[in-house]
Amino acid sequence: MAKIQVCDISFSYDKETNAVEHVSFQIEAGSYTTIIGHNGSGKSTIAKLLIDLLEKDSGSIIVDGMELNDENIYTIRDKIGIVFQNPDNQFIGATVADDIAFGLENHQVASEAMEQIIQTYAKRVNMSRYLLSEPTHLSGGQKQRVAIAGVLAMAPQIMIFDEATSMLDPQGKAEINEMIQSIHRETGMTIISITHDIEEVSHSDHVIVMDQGHIVMDGKPEDILLREKELVALKLDIPFALKFTKGLQRKGISCRLCTTMEGAVEEVCRLHSKN
Ligand SMILES: Nc1ncnc2c1ncn2[C@@H]1O[C@H](COP(=O)(O)OP(=O)(O)O)[C@@H](O)[C@H]1O
Ligand SMILES: [Mg+2]
Repeated sequence: MAKIQVCDISFSYDKETNAVEHVSFQIEAGSYTTIIGHNGSGKSTIAKLLIDLLEKDSGSIIVDGMELNDENIYTIRDKIGIVFQNPDNQFIGATVADDIAFGLENHQVASEAMEQIIQTYAKRVNMSRYLLSEPTHLSGGQKQRVAIAGVLAMAPQIMIFDEATSMLDPQGKAEINEMIQSIHRETGMTIISITHDIEEVSHSDHVIVMDQGHIVMDGKPEDILLREKELVALKLDIPFALKFTKGLQRKGISCRLCTTMEGAVEEVCRLHSKN
């Protein structure tokens, strides 16, 4: 079942050039979708259109069977949580607990219930020890984990990550990627992750590739990632496992092309056991 249906939307910031043009796609309920594309291709604009932070010029957006319009905007916003790129832009509270509570306060959650929810989600992102710390003293990865806890606390059905790892060091990136995957596994929530990390793409269920405001590819990562020439022309990379298995093929070894490390390791084991 489609959780989100985007039908022929266009949007322009300056009323001259379209940042997003005639874009249509579907996101299945419970799926993990990645959106990739060069800088300026329209990815963040799409995320903002989905939560009505920007208003489309034309087309329609349907979430959970409900058309996004002035009447049900708040119902739809409650269904969608978003984590942005820059962790420093999402902090407003004096403590980590305040930050996790921020959205709840806006929803008039009773204070006893709030305490419990804060603890549950702080624990979920391994930040229980920091509840009374000042957010400004945390590492980038920790800040993003707090932001994720704040979003999870609102119990959304859909989570959007807009390059949530791009400002983090490799350890922070790995931590947050692992967290996104475990949230998806454990909650079955619908996830949309805008990312530059091609390894993350290889682990998603569905990938949308954007270029200059248009969708240029849409499908399963294992199919899309094989289209190396087109991806390189769009200034995108291919996963290490694919480079590796292509390298093996170039050496005359008959192996399957793999897009994930797990797949490549299995393939090497299979080749090894054949010999
Ligand atoms: N606030 C804004 N005002 C004017 N133009 C913008 C604004 N934000 C983005 N754009 C333009 O819209 C296009 C798409 O941007 P964006 O959606 O941010 O791309 P991406 O997230 O893929 O990097 C780009 O050409 C960008 O310069
Ligand atoms: Mg962006």
